[in-house]
Amino acid sequence: MLMERIETGHGTLLPTPPGPWLPGVVQSVLFTWWRHRWALSLRAKYGDVISMTIYPWRKVVLLYEPRHIAAMFSAPTTKFHAGEGNRVLAPVMGQQSVFMADGADHKRLRRLMAPLFSRNAVRGYMDMVRELTLTEVDSWPVAAPFESHDRMRELTLDIMSRVTFGLADGPVFDRMRELLGRLLSMDLVILMGLNVPGAHRVGPWRSAMNLVGEIDALVYEVIAERRDSSDLTERTDVLSRLLLAGEGGDGLSDLEIRDQLITLLIAGHETTATGLAWALHELARDREVARKAATAAVLDDTAYLEAVVKESLRRHPVIFEVTWTLTEDVSLDGYRLPKGSTVMPMIGIVQNDPANFPEPERFRPERFLEGEVSPATWLPFGGGARRCVGANFALMEATEVLRVLLARRMITTDLRAPEAASSKHVAFAPAKGARISAPPLVEVGGDGR
Ligand code: HEM
Repeated sequence: MLMERIETGHGTLLPTPPGPWLPGVVQSVLFTWWRHRWALSLRAKYGDVISMTIYPWRKVVLLYEPRHIAAMFSAPTTKFHAGEGNRVLAPVMGQQSVFMADGADHKRLRRLMAPLFSRNAVRGYMDMVRELTLTEVDSWPVAAPFESHDRMRELTLDIMSRVTFGLADGPVFDRMRELLGRLLSMDLVILMGLNVPGAHRVGPWRSAMNLVGEIDALVYEVIAERRDSSDLTERTDVLSRLLLAGEGGDGLSDLEIRDQLITLLIAGHETTATGLAWALHELARDREVARKAATAAVLDDTAYLEAVVKESLRRHPVIFEVTWTLTEDVSLDGYRLPKGSTVMPMIGIVQNDPANFPEPERFRPERFLEGEVSPATWLPFGGGARRCVGANFALMEATEVLRVLLARRMITTDLRAPEAASSKHVAFAPAKGARISAPPLVEVGGDGR
């Protein structure tokens, strides 16, 4: 594949990419409600690099070609800012969050956080994930259908609250879990509305600010208590490790730690729950793959289970696109992309493009076992300097959840048609909540399947 380059210094001679001339408001509506279909129709009409306007004044460039996306992900970070576009979440995640940071600040936070989520480090959380999944699965109905997305949200919130804060069972954990649950179930519109000056004094926005205040008070209490804890250096939770991160005055302040903890919870909870819900949705509808996955769970075939997770994230990317803003004019494949425009690689389209994945609509975990998949076309965690810091954790967590639950329950559904993807919070989730039934394995076939 010919690698494109993002370059500067080609002046204004190059044309900007083609795109629709509809009013920005109309383009915003089409992009918000019919993203996949609209983005595909634009590609058919205008090609692989497209300009459009959304929200309704923001200039956006859509990318569909893996080589263009690779060029974006490998461009120097001075040419892009991603934190700027995430600022809408600052009232909740905090101004010091890695999500809001750019340039040197972002680099420093990533350097301090990345070791906590290395492949090796996340293995240390496996047992906890398995135990919590076991408790969760034991509480599932044995016959009645239910919305598995809700159950996965509860489970991943449990997991993330424990991993981040490292609290033992007891009143402080219960209070934290309850407050975080309320925050994470809030509508994104309310959370984003907190940016409107004065909004936090009225209605639901006031309640949201009060809730954030309550959470902050508890988080700072836990941080203070943990700083003095005698076993700090032996502890493996994220809070303890962040307290010890950095050398020679480069460590994190309490405010910075608070912001990273809340960011990790928000970034890691809904996304993984949604990825798991899609995996269950697919398994429920495909007996053959479900049988193979159950066998893999019983026989501890980690590679197959991880392939199920990866194939699910391919077929149903939880995050449809990432948004990076250009800090200067750059050229790409004969076009000038103007400074200030937001570049969006269409992950959802790349991963379902027959040019990149034969028979893209088929759920076939084997793709990931047979060396068919290029890292340039499998992008559920984004790429480059902003690639998901929790990717290893998410893969481990989803794989372990499947291992435990598929060894105990058979996954079926009474719904014939596949569920559509609907935008919930930041994620694209199954519209009907990934409705499944989960009878115990042993009662179904007698042969354990
Ligand atoms: C299946 C689950 C997940 C998916 C699909 C996902 C997806 C993504 C994507 C696409 C980005 C890149 C955004 C960009 O380019 O601006 C991202 C960033 C991020 N993710 Fe994840 N994520 C998942 C799970 C997690 C988990 C479990 C954690 C925490 C343990 C996490 C923490 C983060 C953080 C902190 C960032 C910001 C990184 C930065 O700005 O440098 N994510 N995620």
